[in-house]
Amino acid sequence: MTADRISSAVDVARPPGDQASRMRQLLPQFVDPVDPASVYADLPLTSDRPSVRLNMIASIDGATAVAGRSGALGGDADHELFRVLRAQADVVLVAAGTVRAERYGPSAVPLAIVTRSCRLDLDSPLFADAPTTPLVFTVADAPLDRRERASRVAGVIVAGERDVDLRRVLSELGIRGYRAVLAEGGPTLNAQLAAADLIDELCLTVSPHLVGGDARRILAGPPLPAPRPLRPVSVCEQDGFLFLRMRPC
Ligand SMILES: NC(=O)c1ccc[n+]([C@@H]2O[C@H](COP(=O)([O-])OP(=O)(O)OC[C@H]3O[C@@H](n4cnc5c(N)ncnc54)[C@H](OP(=O)(O)O)[C@@H]3O)[C@@H](O)[C@H]2O)c1
Repeated sequence: MTADRISSAVDVARPPGDQASRMRQLLPQFVDPVDPASVYADLPLTSDRPSVRLNMIASIDGATAVAGRSGALGGDADHELFRVLRAQADVVLVAAGTVRAERYGPSAVPLAIVTRSCRLDLDSPLFADAPTTPLVFTVADAPLDRRERASRVAGVIVAGERDVDLRRVLSELGIRGYRAVLAEGGPTLNAQLAAADLIDELCLTVSPHLVGGDARRILAGPPLPAPRPLRPVSVCEQDGFLFLRMRPC
């Protein structure tokens, strides 16, 4: 698509009186309105393991949280996309820091939680009301009593000595028949997924806010050995939020 085509696409005005908020696709071609379920329908394919789609929201200046949570960055449009991506996933992979910070509740999609400490609120609705028993991936070093308590409400899998091995996690998820993994962070987990080259698609919502401060970026960890190039698969917009879908080159 040429630059002219992009700019004319972005400038297209909504019909007078049309106040309805809706997503429009800017790239690869202009579509207005567009159904997010169709934009995101083509999940990345991998042959040797389940595919991993990572979904994150960040402010224009890269913050992934405001006062420790992501809620202030979002809006109706990204909530809708969050639902769409979950509906397309077989399992949600999330780290314990995010489960605690975002107070995760039960999900229609099975949850797989990564934790070293096994410090999880096992009485919470996340476990008590889960339609599918959550999986907890932990390490041999985790306190035995916590592992045992977790195993009463979750499937507990020891997948490493001190660190959960994320390739092993994907292998275990594959064994259970899950092919499409939606990773929901947080940044500490994301950095390890990136370092292990396990992100097949990054769905990044750019929230139209400046935040400042020292909130984490979408990857928090040691630098990658070299900057990893990504290519855009689609770019959508709604209510000033930009929805980027990026894949490895
Ligand atoms: N903007 C967004 O889209 C978005 C999305 C998600 C989260 N967030 C924000 O990000 C923050 C949380 O992210 P975070 O980076 O601090 O934490 P995180 O990545 O959510 O969780 C880190 C925790 O996960 C466990 N963990 C991660 N990798 C592990 C491994 N290889 N082996 C064993 N355990 C492992 C450990 O749990 P234990 O401590 O239990 O050992 C670790 O302390 C919150 O502020 C949240 O609101 C934002």
